[in-house]
Amino acid sequence: MRLPGRPSTFRRYIVAAFLLTLTFYLLPKSDTIAFLVGRKQGANKHPIDPLIRTAENEFAAKLSKSTQTLAAAAAAYRKRRGRHPPPGFDKWYEFATERDAIIVEDFWDQIYHDLEPFWGVPPARIRKDALKFDMRVQIRNGKVSTGSDWWWTQIWLKMIQTVEHLLPDMDLALNPMDEPRMMVPWEDIDEYIKKAANTKRIVNVESVVSSFSTQMLEAPQEDHSDVPPVQWEHDKHYWLIARRGCPPDSPARQAEVITDFDKPPSIASPFSLTHMKDGYVANYTLSTDFCHQPDLQGLEGIFVEPISVSTTASLIPVFGGSKLSRNNDILLPAPIYWSEEERFFGTEAAATPWASKHTSAIWRGVATGGRNRENNWRAFQRHRFAAMNSPRLLAQAVAAAQTEQPPPNFALPDKQYPLPAAARADLPGWIAKTTDIALTELACGNTGFSPSCDYTAPYFTPVKGVPMATQFTHKYLPDIDGNSFSGRYLGFLRSTSVPIKATLFREWHDARLVAWKHFVPMDGRFGDWWGILGYFLGGGGGGEKGRGEEGRDSVGEGIAEAGREWAAKVLRKEDMSVYVLRLLLEYGRVIDDKREVLGWVGDLRDEF
Ligand SMILES: *[C@@H]1O[C@H](CO)[C@@H](O)[C@H](O)[C@H]1NC(C)=O
Repeated sequence: MRLPGRPSTFRRYIVAAFLLTLTFYLLPKSDTIAFLVGRKQGANKHPIDPLIRTAENEFAAKLSKSTQTLAAAAAAYRKRRGRHPPPGFDKWYEFATERDAIIVEDFWDQIYHDLEPFWGVPPARIRKDALKFDMRVQIRNGKVSTGSDWWWTQIWLKMIQTVEHLLPDMDLALNPMDEPRMMVPWEDIDEYIKKAANTKRIVNVESVVSSFSTQMLEAPQEDHSDVPPVQWEHDKHYWLIARRGCPPDSPARQAEVITDFDKPPSIASPFSLTHMKDGYVANYTLSTDFCHQPDLQGLEGIFVEPISVSTTASLIPVFGGSKLSRNNDILLPAPIYWSEEERFFGTEAAATPWASKHTSAIWRGVATGGRNRENNWRAFQRHRFAAMNSPRLLAQAVAAAQTEQPPPNFALPDKQYPLPAAARADLPGWIAKTTDIALTELACGNTGFSPSCDYTAPYFTPVKGVPMATQFTHKYLPDIDGNSFSGRYLGFLRSTSVPIKATLFREWHDARLVAWKHFVPMDGRFGDWWGILGYFLGGGGGGEKGRGEEGRDSVGEGIAEAGREWAAKVLRKEDMSVYVLRLLLEYGRVIDDKREVLGWVGDLRDEF
């Protein structure tokens, strides 16, 4: 009876395959990976372990995409971008390879994210908007210059000088402020992106124009009368501005607006579940977006009251060093990273060997984040982080827990976090032993940013700053946003310590770093902080006997090393130049009247 048997075996196979496929399809991606790498791990494994394994795989996959020839780089470009590379791509490739840059097309994703909407704006309009902006640099005949002596402009000028000889003429509007400048409504961006999509195609090689137009900017008496003036908004309640960058059905747009910040904020929230798994950040990029996290409106200074707000709903070409996920500013490497100031880098001490460091976490900083006041400081991220690491405030919180009195601006560890015995027995004592975290100035918004204020005096006493060089003698370096991104991040990555990063800001380098491989990601509510500390530091005795569980010291060392090695390969000043050159070639194309047919097709025309 072979014949009837055959189809039934076959059918069984098909059904099994179908069910298996369905299972993988229905499981969230991280589950699928955990499923694939094995359930053999046993019940005692820490939930951070699979995140680190996934990161290893993600990084290996990224590296495997690196290209070794110009033709391969151009092919990778066309595949990922849907257009020909811009004119000058061959020079860019030469510039990059002469500097030993690793070429993985994904590394430049941010550029395309930032510039794509501008393909929906007429080129002449973009050029005019740039010319009307106060702070500018201009490039003419391969030379960059500026009329501005603002220190950031001067640093950006030096950065662009490294690539000026390869650039077409252009004017660049630069943001002189900490805070980003554009928040175009989601609906408008959607329109721009749809228009941009209509221009996206691989043009016939014969029709491609391979040099930039030169006449566009030669109009000294240019008439700007058809450009309506840009409207700048100054509403200090930035959440009301920020959320318009989110989709209409997103929690940020739907949630009630918080206006009373004069009480303990709500820390635990189901919104973080979207980017977390078993209590830890599983999708770092998503964790830095705020559209699914409306509770952040009461947990971050930038949403509550930034120092200054000057934002527009118009899409104009302003370049800046960092932005929130939904701002439309065009990112350049931040001036701080180019200038390599000692206070942000602490260069030599950054190489302190792991074994000679303290097994502890250190953080010092000014209570920035915005303008904190008596009735809003509880909503500021640095105040929150400092408070939850203050042994005194923790002891008060533990005592008050009996009476259900909430701590002023943080939450005690959630049950889901497997803390070491030492921490369970004595949380304030464990924190005192494993961390050294405090504010250096309270930056009181009502008194010209004075170092201490009445309203925070019961909670915080400002302490002395610690030089970067000394901070690097500790193994773990939490990094918390200030008024905008944290300028010490690059110094942390380049060091032999582990950065523990919580941020809402996007930067030029995001696509080249892998969370849990090069740094440890932390949720913006900091609820995972206790678990992260427990995982790496254990009982906090540096492995000494009788002090509770040992931490995963070698795992921490591995992340510190991987971050340092990778930063030395892809976060050098050379890499910033390579990024800026790619960005400005693309910008030069998108502002060119012939942009739709401009391209580099040298690989398709000539034989290689
Ligand atoms: C992480 O979230 C982003 C959205 O920000 C999404 O596009 C991406 O697929 C997610 N990654 C994973 C591994 O789930």
